[in-house]
Amino acid sequence: MKNLTQAYEFALPRIDGPTCIAQAWAKTPVSLSFMDKTRLKNKIQTLLKKRNAVIVAHYYVDGDIQDLALDTGGFVGDSLEMARFGRDHPAQILVVAGVRFMGETSKILSPHKRVLMPDLEASCSLDLGCPATEFNRFCDRHSDRTVVVYANTSAAVKARADWMVTSSCALAIVHQLHQQGEKILWAPDRHLGRYIHDQTGADMLIWDGTCIVHNEFKARELDLLCQQHPFAKVLVHPESPAEVIAMADVVGSTSAMIKAVIDGNAQEYIIATDQGILHRMRQLAPTKTLIEAPTAGQSATCKSCANCPWMAMNGLTHLSNCLQNLSGDINIEESLRIKASHCIERMLTFTQNNSKLLAQAQHGFIKNIGAA
Ligand code: 13P
Ligand code: SF4
Repeated sequence: MKNLTQAYEFALPRIDGPTCIAQAWAKTPVSLSFMDKTRLKNKIQTLLKKRNAVIVAHYYVDGDIQDLALDTGGFVGDSLEMARFGRDHPAQILVVAGVRFMGETSKILSPHKRVLMPDLEASCSLDLGCPATEFNRFCDRHSDRTVVVYANTSAAVKARADWMVTSSCALAIVHQLHQQGEKILWAPDRHLGRYIHDQTGADMLIWDGTCIVHNEFKARELDLLCQQHPFAKVLVHPESPAEVIAMADVVGSTSAMIKAVIDGNAQEYIIATDQGILHRMRQLAPTKTLIEAPTAGQSATCKSCANCPWMAMNGLTHLSNCLQNLSGDINIEESLRIKASHCIERMLTFTQNNSKLLAQAQHGFIKNIGAA
């Protein structure tokens, strides 16, 4: 580790308590029969054509919605790719199947498009745990720092930021800022912040937020699983605890994890992220064996079982209803939208112009997979 100062400030409460999670779980759609699914999928296909709309989906949502997105000219990807696709696609209606910050990012980038979401209450523990008022106070107290926020935040938090990053470009962007001598205020995910600090040596003041899904992965049980599968490669999303990241062969965004399975020369992969990703991984790497990383075991307090309750709110019924009724609109007040757009545009310009640095940063994530 480089010889630089690191500052942590854990002054603020995290909003990941049982009430907010239970409320989210209460809204998870009931499972549908094969017949109902087929009827709804046909209806959605017809409505997408009629409305000139596309589905922009995240890898964590229901596999049927991912398939439908791809079958109808839409998209499935990580949060950076979703933002780019929504901005660049000519359709005038984007149906964002993911969580609220993803819909907001699309709307910020494409104010003249309608952005609909199957359930507007699909939030994220990182977003909920970083309210704009407290965040602004935090920034005011540390006005000498460059403010870097993760995509998983509200438009109001982004409006205060100098940079927005996603898991696929965070390391490269903070590395560059650090090279320029800037001190960073980072929010909200403390594990990702800690990981970036450890990799870059940047001086980072870190908000105390966590993802309720990734925070549950358990190093002790992962170690036992690795002993049972000595040739398996371990793929970890960087929102996971440091001791889990320390065991990874690959640390990266959801897209980077999928690429690692496709390109890797191992047969078995242990996957530490939301289990929704397995659907696309199985399709793209059908001969590989995929094993879910443990959230349970002796040291478990399992709240999520690797299944994001907010991502799970995206059901076929809600998707069909929002297209039928043109409901679930994301609206952002224009002056807030403009303020929030600067940090996102900055990230998009950076990622467009620094593909080599991004690849190098990603290469740094990949320690021992054979495909690096
Ligand atoms: P990605 O940007 O890697 O898709 O991550 C988004 C997310 O919410 C992870 O929990
Ligand atoms: Fe937020 Fe975690 Fe759900 Fe991703 S998986 S949307 S970070 S709560």
